[in-house]
Amino acid sequence: MGVLLEGQAALARHLADQDCLPAAWREAFTRVDRAAFLPDRIWVRTVDGYEPLDRAADPVRWQQLVYSDLPIITQVQDPPGATLARTPTSSASMPRIVATMLHALHVQAGHRVLEIGAGTGYNAALLAARLGDQQVTTVEVDAGLADRARASLAAAGHRAAVVTGDGAAGWAAGAPYDRIIATCSVRQVPYAWVEQTAPGGLIVLPWGTALRNGVLVRLTVEHGPGGPVASGPVIDDTAFMWMRAQAPGGDVMAITQAGGEADSSRTGLGPGFLGDDDAWFAAGVLVPGCQWATGQGPDGEWTLWLADAASGSWASVDYEPGAEQFDVQQHGPRRLWTEIEAAHTWWEDADRPARTRFGLSVTRHAQQVWLDDPAHVVATTRA
Ligand SMILES: C[S@@+](CC[C@H](N)C(=O)[O-])C[C@H]1O[C@@H](n2cnc3c(N)ncnc32)[C@H](O)[C@@H]1O
Repeated sequence: MGVLLEGQAALARHLADQDCLPAAWREAFTRVDRAAFLPDRIWVRTVDGYEPLDRAADPVRWQQLVYSDLPIITQVQDPPGATLARTPTSSASMPRIVATMLHALHVQAGHRVLEIGAGTGYNAALLAARLGDQQVTTVEVDAGLADRARASLAAAGHRAAVVTGDGAAGWAAGAPYDRIIATCSVRQVPYAWVEQTAPGGLIVLPWGTALRNGVLVRLTVEHGPGGPVASGPVIDDTAFMWMRAQAPGGDVMAITQAGGEADSSRTGLGPGFLGDDDAWFAAGVLVPGCQWATGQGPDGEWTLWLADAASGSWASVDYEPGAEQFDVQQHGPRRLWTEIEAAHTWWEDADRPARTRFGLSVTRHAQQVWLDDPAHVVATTRA
Protein backbone atom coordinates (compact mmCIF):
# COMPACT_ATOMS: atom_id res chain seq x y z
CA MET A 1 0.00 0.00 0.00
CA GLY A 2 1.20 3.54 -0.75
CA VAL A 3 1.74 6.32 1.77
CA LEU A 4 -1.39 6.97 3.84
CA LEU A 5 -2.53 10.57 4.10
CA GLU A 6 -5.01 12.35 6.31
CA GLY A 7 -6.71 14.83 4.08
CA GLN A 8 -7.04 16.36 0.65
CA ALA A 9 -4.42 19.06 1.26
CA ALA A 10 -1.98 16.40 2.46
CA LEU A 11 -2.71 14.29 -0.63
CA ALA A 12 -2.01 17.29 -2.89
CA ARG A 13 1.17 18.06 -0.95
CA HIS A 14 2.29 14.44 -1.21
CA LEU A 15 1.77 14.42 -4.99
CA ALA A 16 3.63 17.72 -5.34
CA ASP A 17 6.50 16.45 -3.17
CA GLN A 18 6.72 13.39 -5.42
CA ASP A 19 6.87 15.66 -8.50
CA CYS A 20 3.53 14.25 -9.64
CA LEU A 21 1.44 17.41 -9.43
CA PRO A 22 2.28 20.25 -11.82
CA ALA A 23 1.98 23.72 -10.27
CA ALA A 24 -0.93 24.69 -12.54
CA TRP A 25 -3.06 21.88 -11.05
CA ARG A 26 -2.08 22.29 -7.41
CA GLU A 27 -4.87 24.65 -6.41
CA ALA A 28 -7.58 22.46 -7.96
CA PHE A 29 -6.16 19.34 -6.32
CA THR A 30 -6.06 21.08 -2.95
CA ARG A 31 -9.58 22.49 -3.29
CA VAL A 32 -11.51 19.49 -4.67
CA ASP A 33 -12.07 16.92 -1.93
CA ARG A 34 -11.66 13.39 -3.34
CA ALA A 35 -13.68 11.97 -0.41
CA ALA A 36 -16.74 13.95 -1.52
CA PHE A 37 -16.85 11.90 -4.74
CA LEU A 38 -16.34 8.42 -3.34
CA PRO A 39 -19.22 6.15 -2.31
CA ASP A 40 -19.56 4.89 1.26
CA ARG A 41 -18.82 1.37 0.02
CA ILE A 42 -15.49 0.95 -1.74
CA TRP A 43 -13.78 -2.30 -2.76
CA VAL A 44 -10.36 -3.39 -1.57
CA ARG A 45 -8.11 -5.83 -3.39
CA THR A 46 -7.40 -9.17 -1.71
CA VAL A 47 -5.38 -12.10 -3.03
CA ASP A 48 -8.35 -13.54 -4.96
CA GLY A 49 -10.55 -10.55 -5.76
CA TYR A 50 -12.14 -7.54 -4.07
CA GLU A 51 -13.92 -7.26 -0.72
CA PRO A 52 -16.19 -4.42 0.37
CA LEU A 53 -15.09 -1.77 2.82
CA ASP A 54 -17.94 0.29 4.28
CA ARG A 55 -17.24 3.78 5.56
CA ALA A 56 -19.56 3.28 8.54
CA ALA A 57 -17.83 0.04 9.54
CA ASP A 58 -14.28 1.41 9.37
CA PRO A 59 -14.27 5.19 8.85
CA VAL A 60 -10.57 5.57 9.58
CA ARG A 61 -9.43 3.01 7.00
CA TRP A 62 -11.93 4.33 4.45
CA GLN A 63 -10.53 7.82 4.87
CA GLN A 64 -6.91 6.67 4.79
CA LEU A 65 -7.49 4.86 1.49
CA VAL A 66 -9.44 7.70 -0.07
CA TYR A 67 -6.71 10.24 0.68
CA SER A 68 -3.94 7.96 -0.55
CA ASP A 69 -2.30 7.91 -3.95
CA LEU A 70 -4.19 4.73 -4.81
CA PRO A 71 -6.88 3.80 -7.31
CA ILE A 72 -10.16 3.06 -5.49
CA ILE A 73 -12.60 0.52 -6.91
CA THR A 74 -16.06 2.03 -6.55
CA GLN A 75 -18.26 -0.55 -8.29
CA VAL A 76 -18.06 -4.25 -9.08
CA GLN A 77 -20.32 -6.49 -11.10
CA ASP A 78 -20.32 -10.22 -10.60
CA PRO A 79 -22.85 -13.00 -11.12
CA PRO A 80 -25.44 -13.23 -8.33
CA GLY A 81 -24.21 -15.51 -5.57
CA ALA A 82 -20.51 -14.92 -6.29
CA THR A 83 -18.68 -15.13 -2.97
CA LEU A 84 -15.92 -12.70 -3.93
CA ALA A 85 -16.08 -9.81 -6.40
CA ARG A 86 -13.67 -10.13 -9.31
CA THR A 87 -14.93 -7.69 -11.93
CA PRO A 88 -14.52 -3.98 -11.18
CA THR A 89 -16.71 -1.77 -13.36
CA SER A 90 -15.77 1.68 -12.07
CA SER A 91 -13.05 3.31 -10.03
CA ALA A 92 -11.55 6.60 -8.96
CA SER A 93 -8.22 6.51 -10.75
CA MET A 94 -4.89 6.78 -8.98
CA PRO A 95 -4.42 10.50 -8.17
CA ARG A 96 -0.95 10.68 -9.73
CA ILE A 97 -2.38 9.26 -12.97
CA VAL A 98 -5.25 11.76 -12.82
CA ALA A 99 -2.66 14.55 -12.46
CA THR A 100 -0.48 13.14 -15.27
CA MET A 101 -3.41 12.98 -17.66
CA LEU A 102 -4.70 16.44 -16.79
CA HIS A 103 -1.21 17.85 -17.23
CA ALA A 104 -0.91 16.09 -20.61
CA LEU A 105 -4.15 17.80 -21.70
CA HIS A 106 -2.43 21.22 -21.79
CA VAL A 107 -5.60 23.11 -20.87
CA GLN A 108 -5.79 26.87 -20.90
CA ALA A 109 -8.39 29.30 -19.58
CA GLY A 110 -11.43 29.33 -21.84
CA HIS A 111 -10.97 25.78 -23.13
CA ARG A 112 -14.01 23.56 -23.46
CA VAL A 113 -13.36 19.97 -22.38
CA LEU A 114 -15.22 16.70 -22.89
CA GLU A 115 -14.42 13.81 -20.57
CA ILE A 116 -15.35 10.23 -21.47
CA GLY A 117 -16.01 8.10 -18.36
CA ALA A 118 -17.37 10.31 -15.56
CA GLY A 119 -17.07 7.55 -12.95
CA THR A 120 -17.19 9.32 -9.57
CA GLY A 121 -17.16 12.82 -11.11
CA TYR A 122 -13.86 13.66 -9.37
CA ASN A 123 -11.87 14.30 -12.55
CA ALA A 124 -14.70 16.45 -13.93
CA ALA A 125 -14.69 18.43 -10.68
CA LEU A 126 -10.94 19.06 -11.01
CA LEU A 127 -11.47 20.28 -14.58
CA ALA A 128 -14.40 22.46 -13.49
CA ALA A 129 -12.33 23.91 -10.62
CA ARG A 130 -9.61 24.89 -13.07
CA LEU A 131 -11.68 25.99 -16.08
CA GLY A 132 -15.16 26.79 -14.79
CA ASP A 133 -18.37 24.72 -14.71
CA GLN A 134 -19.59 25.84 -18.12
CA GLN A 135 -16.48 24.53 -19.82
CA VAL A 136 -16.77 20.88 -18.78
CA THR A 137 -18.98 18.03 -19.99
CA THR A 138 -18.52 14.41 -18.94
CA VAL A 139 -20.19 11.30 -20.39
CA GLU A 140 -20.86 8.11 -18.42
CA VAL A 141 -22.42 4.96 -19.89
CA ASP A 142 -23.65 3.59 -16.55
CA ALA A 143 -26.82 5.46 -15.59
CA GLY A 144 -26.43 4.79 -11.85
CA LEU A 145 -22.88 6.11 -11.87
CA ALA A 146 -23.87 9.13 -13.96
CA ASP A 147 -26.63 10.01 -11.48
CA ARG A 148 -24.22 9.66 -8.58
CA ALA A 149 -21.52 11.75 -10.27
CA ARG A 150 -24.11 14.45 -11.03
CA ALA A 151 -25.23 14.51 -7.39
CA SER A 152 -21.65 14.57 -6.06
CA LEU A 153 -20.68 17.40 -8.39
CA ALA A 154 -23.74 19.42 -7.37
CA ALA A 155 -23.13 18.79 -3.67
CA ALA A 156 -19.56 20.02 -4.11
CA GLY A 157 -20.84 23.17 -5.81
CA HIS A 158 -19.96 22.28 -9.42
CA ARG A 159 -22.34 22.45 -12.36
CA ALA A 160 -20.28 20.53 -14.94
CA ALA A 161 -22.69 18.73 -17.30
CA VAL A 162 -22.95 14.96 -16.78
CA VAL A 163 -24.41 13.16 -19.80
CA THR A 164 -25.69 9.60 -19.49
CA GLY A 165 -24.71 7.80 -22.68
CA ASP A 166 -22.15 5.86 -24.65
CA GLY A 167 -18.97 7.91 -24.75
CA ALA A 168 -18.00 6.23 -28.03
CA ALA A 169 -20.33 8.75 -29.65
CA GLY A 170 -18.74 11.66 -27.79
CA TRP A 171 -21.34 14.36 -27.14
CA ALA A 172 -22.11 16.12 -30.40
CA ALA A 173 -24.50 18.61 -28.80
CA GLY A 174 -21.62 20.30 -26.98
CA ALA A 175 -19.03 20.15 -29.80
CA PRO A 176 -16.56 21.45 -30.76
CA TYR A 177 -14.24 20.84 -27.81
CA ASP A 178 -10.72 22.14 -27.39
CA ARG A 179 -9.81 19.03 -25.45
CA ILE A 180 -11.15 15.50 -25.05
CA ILE A 181 -9.91 13.28 -22.24
CA ALA A 182 -10.89 9.62 -21.97
CA THR A 183 -10.64 7.88 -18.62
CA CYS A 184 -11.46 4.44 -20.00
CA SER A 185 -9.15 2.56 -22.33
CA VAL A 186 -9.89 1.96 -26.02
CA ARG A 187 -8.38 -0.24 -28.73
CA GLN A 188 -10.03 1.70 -31.55
CA VAL A 189 -10.27 5.48 -31.12
CA PRO A 190 -13.88 6.49 -31.90
CA TYR A 191 -13.87 8.82 -34.89
CA ALA A 192 -16.63 10.88 -33.23
CA TRP A 193 -13.97 12.20 -30.83
CA VAL A 194 -11.86 13.40 -33.75
CA GLU A 195 -14.86 15.03 -35.44
CA GLN A 196 -15.89 16.79 -32.24
CA THR A 197 -12.45 18.29 -31.54
CA ALA A 198 -11.70 21.81 -32.77
CA PRO A 199 -8.80 22.28 -35.23
CA GLY A 200 -5.53 22.15 -33.30
CA GLY A 201 -7.30 20.56 -30.31
CA LEU A 202 -5.96 17.62 -28.30
CA ILE A 203 -7.30 14.20 -27.33
CA VAL A 204 -5.64 12.41 -24.41
CA LEU A 205 -6.60 8.78 -24.02
CA PRO A 206 -5.48 5.45 -22.62
CA TRP A 207 -4.98 3.06 -25.53
CA GLY A 208 -4.30 -0.65 -25.47
CA THR A 209 -4.36 -3.90 -27.35
CA ALA A 210 -5.93 -7.22 -26.43
CA LEU A 211 -2.45 -8.29 -25.32
CA ARG A 212 -1.49 -5.22 -23.31
CA ASN A 213 -3.46 -2.46 -21.56
CA GLY A 214 -1.95 0.08 -22.12
CA VAL A 215 -0.31 3.38 -22.91
CA LEU A 216 -1.27 7.04 -22.76
CA VAL A 217 -1.57 8.74 -26.15
CA ARG A 218 -1.95 12.42 -27.04
CA LEU A 219 -3.47 13.13 -30.45
CA THR A 220 -3.57 16.52 -32.17
CA VAL A 221 -6.53 17.11 -34.46
CA GLU A 222 -6.11 18.80 -37.83
CA HIS A 223 -9.02 19.54 -40.15
CA GLY A 224 -8.06 18.87 -43.77
CA PRO A 225 -9.91 18.46 -47.06
CA GLY A 226 -10.59 14.76 -46.31
CA GLY A 227 -12.09 15.61 -42.91
CA PRO A 228 -10.54 15.83 -39.47
CA VAL A 229 -7.51 13.64 -38.73
CA ALA A 230 -5.95 12.99 -35.31
CA SER A 231 -2.34 11.96 -34.84
CA GLY A 232 0.17 11.82 -32.02
CA PRO A 233 2.60 9.82 -29.94
CA VAL A 234 2.51 7.47 -27.01
CA ILE A 235 3.53 9.71 -24.10
CA ASP A 236 3.40 7.44 -21.06
CA ASP A 237 2.28 4.12 -19.67
CA THR A 238 -1.11 3.58 -18.10
CA ALA A 239 -3.63 0.78 -17.61
CA PHE A 240 -7.31 1.72 -17.43
CA MET A 241 -10.67 0.00 -17.35
CA TRP A 242 -11.81 -0.69 -20.89
CA MET A 243 -14.52 1.31 -22.53
CA ARG A 244 -17.28 -1.24 -22.19
CA ALA A 245 -17.83 -2.19 -25.82
CA GLN A 246 -14.08 -2.39 -26.47
CA ALA A 247 -13.00 -4.82 -23.75
CA PRO A 248 -11.30 -7.85 -25.33
CA GLY A 249 -14.21 -10.25 -25.31
CA GLY A 250 -12.85 -13.73 -24.92
CA ASP A 251 -12.20 -15.89 -21.91
CA VAL A 252 -8.76 -17.27 -22.76
CA MET A 253 -9.11 -20.46 -20.74
CA ALA A 254 -12.60 -21.18 -22.06
CA ILE A 255 -11.33 -20.88 -25.65
CA THR A 256 -8.31 -23.11 -25.03
CA GLN A 257 -10.35 -25.65 -23.09
CA ALA A 258 -12.69 -26.03 -26.06
CA GLY A 259 -9.74 -28.02 -27.41
CA GLY A 260 -9.64 -29.26 -31.01
CA GLU A 261 -6.79 -30.63 -33.14
CA ALA A 262 -3.53 -28.85 -32.38
CA ASP A 263 -0.21 -28.83 -34.24
CA SER A 264 2.90 -29.43 -32.15
CA SER A 265 6.23 -27.66 -32.63
CA ARG A 266 9.14 -26.27 -30.59
CA THR A 267 10.28 -22.69 -29.98
CA GLY A 268 13.49 -21.13 -28.73
CA LEU A 269 11.78 -17.86 -27.80
CA GLY A 270 12.11 -17.85 -24.03
CA PRO A 271 9.90 -16.22 -21.41
CA GLY A 272 12.19 -13.17 -21.04
CA PHE A 273 10.34 -11.71 -24.01
CA LEU A 274 7.10 -11.76 -22.03
CA GLY A 275 8.60 -9.59 -19.31
CA ASP A 276 9.83 -6.95 -21.75
CA ASP A 277 7.14 -4.27 -21.86
CA ASP A 278 8.38 -2.80 -25.15
CA ALA A 279 8.49 -6.18 -26.90
CA TRP A 280 5.08 -7.11 -25.54
CA PHE A 281 3.63 -3.75 -26.62
CA ALA A 282 4.91 -4.34 -30.19
CA ALA A 283 3.47 -7.87 -30.14
CA GLY A 284 0.10 -6.44 -29.13
CA VAL A 285 0.20 -4.03 -32.08
CA LEU A 286 1.21 -6.71 -34.60
CA VAL A 287 -0.95 -9.58 -33.34
CA PRO A 288 -4.40 -7.96 -33.01
CA GLY A 289 -7.13 -9.64 -31.00
CA CYS A 290 -4.69 -11.95 -29.22
CA GLN A 291 -5.29 -12.34 -25.47
CA TRP A 292 -3.16 -14.25 -22.99
CA ALA A 293 -3.22 -16.06 -19.68
CA THR A 294 -0.77 -18.21 -17.74
CA GLY A 295 -1.18 -21.45 -15.83
CA GLN A 296 1.17 -22.77 -13.17
CA GLY A 297 2.51 -26.33 -13.41
CA PRO A 298 4.65 -28.40 -11.02
CA ASP A 299 8.34 -27.70 -10.30
CA GLY A 300 8.37 -24.14 -11.60
CA GLU A 301 6.90 -25.13 -14.98
CA TRP A 302 4.24 -22.89 -16.41
CA THR A 303 2.20 -22.47 -19.57
CA LEU A 304 1.52 -19.39 -21.64
CA TRP A 305 -1.90 -19.54 -23.24
CA LEU A 306 -2.87 -17.36 -26.19
CA ALA A 307 -6.37 -17.08 -27.66
CA ASP A 308 -8.24 -15.14 -30.31
CA ALA A 309 -11.96 -15.02 -29.53
CA ALA A 310 -13.00 -14.04 -33.07
CA SER A 311 -11.56 -17.15 -34.75
CA GLY A 312 -11.44 -19.56 -31.79
CA SER A 313 -7.69 -20.01 -32.41
CA TRP A 314 -5.44 -20.78 -29.47
CA ALA A 315 -1.82 -21.62 -28.75
CA SER A 316 0.16 -22.76 -25.74
CA VAL A 317 3.86 -22.71 -24.85
CA ASP A 318 5.13 -24.85 -21.96
CA TYR A 319 8.03 -23.21 -20.16
CA GLU A 320 10.43 -25.29 -18.08
CA PRO A 321 13.04 -23.57 -15.93
CA GLY A 322 16.52 -23.87 -17.48
CA ALA A 323 15.32 -25.29 -20.83
CA GLU A 324 16.30 -23.68 -24.15
CA GLN A 325 13.52 -25.12 -26.30
CA PHE A 326 9.85 -25.24 -25.35
CA ASP A 327 6.81 -27.22 -26.57
CA VAL A 328 4.25 -25.31 -28.59
CA GLN A 329 0.66 -26.32 -29.50
CA GLN A 330 -1.38 -24.33 -32.00
CA HIS A 331 -5.02 -24.72 -33.01
CA GLY A 332 -7.34 -22.87 -35.38
CA PRO A 333 -7.12 -20.72 -38.48
CA ARG A 334 -4.67 -18.29 -36.85
CA ARG A 335 -1.23 -19.55 -35.79
CA LEU A 336 -0.99 -17.24 -32.80
CA TRP A 337 2.43 -18.30 -31.55
CA THR A 338 3.85 -18.07 -35.08
CA GLU A 339 2.42 -14.53 -35.27
CA ILE A 340 3.97 -13.66 -31.89
CA GLU A 341 7.36 -14.99 -33.03
CA ALA A 342 7.13 -12.93 -36.23
CA ALA A 343 6.26 -9.83 -34.18
CA HIS A 344 9.26 -10.47 -31.98
CA THR A 345 11.55 -10.81 -35.01
CA TRP A 346 10.18 -7.52 -36.38
CA TRP A 347 10.82 -5.80 -33.05
CA GLU A 348 14.40 -7.14 -32.83
CA ASP A 349 15.10 -6.12 -36.45
CA ALA A 350 13.76 -2.62 -35.72
CA ASP A 351 16.37 -2.30 -32.91
CA ARG A 352 13.93 -3.01 -30.10
CA PRO A 353 11.98 0.26 -30.18
CA ALA A 354 10.58 1.58 -26.90
CA ARG A 355 6.79 1.93 -26.82
CA THR A 356 7.13 5.73 -26.58
CA ARG A 357 8.50 5.69 -30.16
CA PHE A 358 5.08 4.58 -31.44
CA GLY A 359 2.08 6.73 -32.21
CA LEU A 360 -1.46 6.62 -33.60
CA SER A 361 -3.24 8.30 -36.49
CA VAL A 362 -7.00 8.21 -36.77
CA THR A 363 -8.96 9.08 -39.90
CA ARG A 364 -12.58 8.53 -40.80
CA HIS A 365 -11.62 5.23 -42.46
CA ALA A 366 -8.80 3.74 -40.42
CA GLN A 367 -6.61 3.76 -37.34
CA GLN A 368 -2.88 3.39 -37.97
CA VAL A 369 -0.11 2.61 -35.51
CA TRP A 370 3.23 4.09 -36.57
CA LEU A 371 6.84 4.01 -35.48
CA ASP A 372 8.70 7.35 -35.10
CA ASP A 373 6.81 9.05 -37.93
CA PRO A 374 3.18 8.90 -39.11
CA ALA A 375 4.51 7.88 -42.54
CA HIS A 376 6.07 4.70 -41.11
CA VAL A 377 2.90 2.68 -40.52
CA VAL A 378 3.26 -0.70 -38.82
CA ALA A 379 -0.39 -1.70 -38.37
CA THR A 380 -3.71 -0.54 -39.77
CA THR A 381 -7.24 -1.24 -38.57
CA ARG A 382 -10.11 -0.27 -40.85
CA ALA A 383 -12.98 1.59 -39.18
C1 LIG B 1 -11.66 4.55 -14.41
S1 LIG B 1 -13.34 4.97 -14.41
C2 LIG B 1 -13.31 6.72 -14.64
C3 LIG B 1 -12.88 7.52 -13.47
C4 LIG B 1 -13.46 8.91 -13.46
N1 LIG B 1 -12.94 9.76 -14.50
C5 LIG B 1 -13.37 9.56 -12.10
O1 LIG B 1 -12.88 10.69 -12.00
O2 LIG B 1 -13.83 8.94 -11.15
C6 LIG B 1 -13.88 4.45 -16.01
C7 LIG B 1 -15.32 4.80 -16.26
O3 LIG B 1 -15.58 4.68 -17.64
C8 LIG B 1 -16.94 4.31 -17.77
N2 LIG B 1 -17.19 3.83 -19.13
C9 LIG B 1 -16.92 2.60 -19.65
N3 LIG B 1 -17.35 2.52 -20.93
C10 LIG B 1 -17.90 3.73 -21.22
C11 LIG B 1 -18.54 4.25 -22.37
N4 LIG B 1 -18.72 3.52 -23.47
N5 LIG B 1 -18.98 5.53 -22.32
C12 LIG B 1 -18.84 6.29 -21.19
N6 LIG B 1 -18.27 5.82 -20.07
C13 LIG B 1 -17.79 4.57 -20.08
C14 LIG B 1 -17.11 3.27 -16.69
O4 LIG B 1 -18.47 3.04 -16.40
C15 LIG B 1 -16.31 3.88 -15.55
O5 LIG B 1 -17.14 4.64 -14.72
